[in-house]
Parts: sequence; structure tokens; C-alpha cells
Amino acid sequence: ADPDSLQDLCVADLGATSVVVNGFPCKPASNVTSDDFFFAGLSMEGNTSNIFASNVTAANVLSFPGLNTLGVSMNRVDVAPGGLNPPHSHPRATELIILLKGRLLVGFISTSNQFFSKVLNPGEMFVVPKGLIHFQYNVGDKKAFAITTFDSQLPGVVIASTTLFGSTPAIPDDVLAKAFQVDQKVVTAIKSKFGN
Ligand code: GLV
Ligand code: MN
Repeated sequence: ADPDSLQDLCVADLGATSVVVNGFPCKPASNVTSDDFFFAGLSMEGNTSNIFASNVTAANVLSFPGLNTLGVSMNRVDVAPGGLNPPHSHPRATELIILLKGRLLVGFISTSNQFFSKVLNPGEMFVVPKGLIHFQYNVGDKKAFAITTFDSQLPGVVIASTTLFGSTPAIPDDVLAKAFQVDQKVVTAIKSKFGN
């Protein structure tokens, strides 16, 4: 969880550039309005026309500055049939997922390399311990939609495939070939899918 707040509210001033703090500085309280505590971004279905056929819409401190210092955030996850929210981890938060529509296979892998998973139906939940790699895969024949919640205002996300094969600058091919025990041609082929 993020550090406790020392005041009722501290709506992030995302544009403040002169001070560097853990989080964001607060907007002057006299400028704070009800709109700072309201966010409609999760009411809209995300666009799943992409290589993974999934979309994550984030309600974190960057999109919803009223969350600053409050230690919580949420995402909306839309996954088309056969689509995947690819394996990723959140360095700063535990994730709770509740499925609202469709059917999703959800799972994570522990540090002792054990895979834990369930198929969720609407109303059912799963929890992913902080920092562990996890995914959601639509195993139904309809669109799936879930809400995820985090004990951080900015959980961060490390997507396994794009981190390793789409970084800037690129990780040397021989490092990845050695790590995955494949030919460098395989590495080049995977990299080409992720912009490298
Ligand atoms: C799902 O895993 C999410 O990070 O929202
Ligand atoms: Mn996640």
C-alpha cells in the first residue's frame, strides 16, 4: 500500500514541475471542486482492436488526479473472445479482480514457479499478490469485462513480452536468445512484433 496521507485530500497538480515528491504535489485547496473526485473513464468499453484483442483503461493518479495520496486505483479490462491481457506484473500493488461480464481464465505464477488459476464467471473474484506475473484470457464466446482494483494510486505495469522484446533501446539479441534458449532468428521474429 502507498504511504498514508497526512491531510484529507491532495488532488494531484500534475503540471507542477518545480517540486519533486513521492507522488504529486497538491492543487491549492481553494481550486478543488467535486469534479476532482469524479471519473467517468471506466464507463466506456475499451477498444480491443489490437494484437492482444484486449484493452485496459486506467483510473490511476495520472488519469484521475483526485486519487493522489489515497493509495487506491482501478482499471477496466475489456477482452474480446479469444483475447488476452498479456502476462504482466504491478511492482507497487496487489490486484483484486472482479468479473462483471463474460468468462475469463485468470492466473498468476508465484516466486516458487507455481501457477494458480481459475475461470471466473460474473461476480466472482480473484486476487493477485503484489509483483507477481498474471494474465486474463477470454475463454468464453462473448466479450468479457472486469474491474481490477489496486492498493496503490499508481501500481505500475511491466508487460513481460513488450518489456523484453520491445524495450528502448533493444536488449541485445544474444541475451534474449540465451535467456529463452532459442536461435537469434526467433528473437528477431518476436522483436518485430513489438517494435524492435
Ligand atoms: C489486470 O491485470 C489489470 O492490471 O488491470
Ligand atoms: Mn494486472
